[in-house]
Amino acid sequence: MGVERALALKTDEALDWVPAANEFAEAVIEGLSSSPKTLPCRYFYDARGSELFEAITDLPEYYPTRTETAILAAHASDISDRVPDGAILVEFGSGSSRKTELLLAEMLDIAAYVPVDVSDTALAGAKQRLDARFPALHVHPILGSFNEEVIYPSDLQARPKVGFFPGSTIGNLTRPEATELLAGMARTLGPNGRLIIGVDLKKDAHTLVAAYNDAAGVTAAFNLNLLTRINRELRATFDLTQFRHEAVYNPREGRIEMYLVSERAQQVAIVGHTFSLAKGERIHTENSHKYTIEEFRTLAREAGWQPETVWTDEKSLFSVHELVQREPDLSFRSKPSY
Ligand code: AVJ
Repeated sequence: MGVERALALKTDEALDWVPAANEFAEAVIEGLSSSPKTLPCRYFYDARGSELFEAITDLPEYYPTRTETAILAAHASDISDRVPDGAILVEFGSGSSRKTELLLAEMLDIAAYVPVDVSDTALAGAKQRLDARFPALHVHPILGSFNEEVIYPSDLQARPKVGFFPGSTIGNLTRPEATELLAGMARTLGPNGRLIIGVDLKKDAHTLVAAYNDAAGVTAAFNLNLLTRINRELRATFDLTQFRHEAVYNPREGRIEMYLVSERAQQVAIVGHTFSLAKGERIHTENSHKYTIEEFRTLAREAGWQPETVWTDEKSLFSVHELVQREPDLSFRSKPSY
């Protein structure tokens, strides 16, 4: 109610008020009203946040991107062999589609590449680059989130479908959420669907924490940029100098947790709401779950997938899994029932 009034007020002030901003305001207010306080990590990726994430992927401490890219490069033809001729490759949260290029170069006989992303500029950029590099490839971008069902154009609907979900984005989800997402992707990819998915592996806590608390402070800037975005888009009053970045490994949950820690007792105003933070109080901004290969294969089975090949690097830092739709188990039929 208070939220709605504040938003109504804001509507009068700003003509460019859009539903997406509404959603953002609601998510921020809900997160800061809960205890402990949280903010959803999907809002990290405004223009500056995307730039900072790109910089993270180049950090010496941040091993996931370069390790996954090396795995994909080393096994591109093996991975592509799993994709039937005439299939479509559906990428969930495709962003720039840069890693996908490694696979597309080997997938000469697919019917289409369908990148799905929430950013229309990222989709347009990727399509332009891919059209230039692969003139014979049909690129059909779809604007949407990786957790929505994909509605295919009618000419592609009947094709076999292979999903691609790299980057260990699945790590942002809790285990129950991850199971639900994988089950949803199974529906989106159909009865003979396959999924190629990148998953960050469990390893010593020191390596993990360093990857999310780099010496150059880029991850700190990435985390704090969320407050800058809230200040700008929701006219909030976060004082950036009064928050610090924290990344810890939670061994019980098997995940990195990122926080913004309030350096002192303070108040913040956001679209008509005021939130109080105690000194040392933390806002939980991101989870990044880590799996062993077996833990992830078990999770995939729970979501109705049959895990097949796993590709990894020689230090076992990162994994790329091939999942296939499980045949219904009809073995009982071969046994006489009398
Ligand atoms: C894009 C979700 C895979 O969890 O490693 C990187 C995001 N956050 N550094 C990750 C991230 C801080 C990243 N994912």
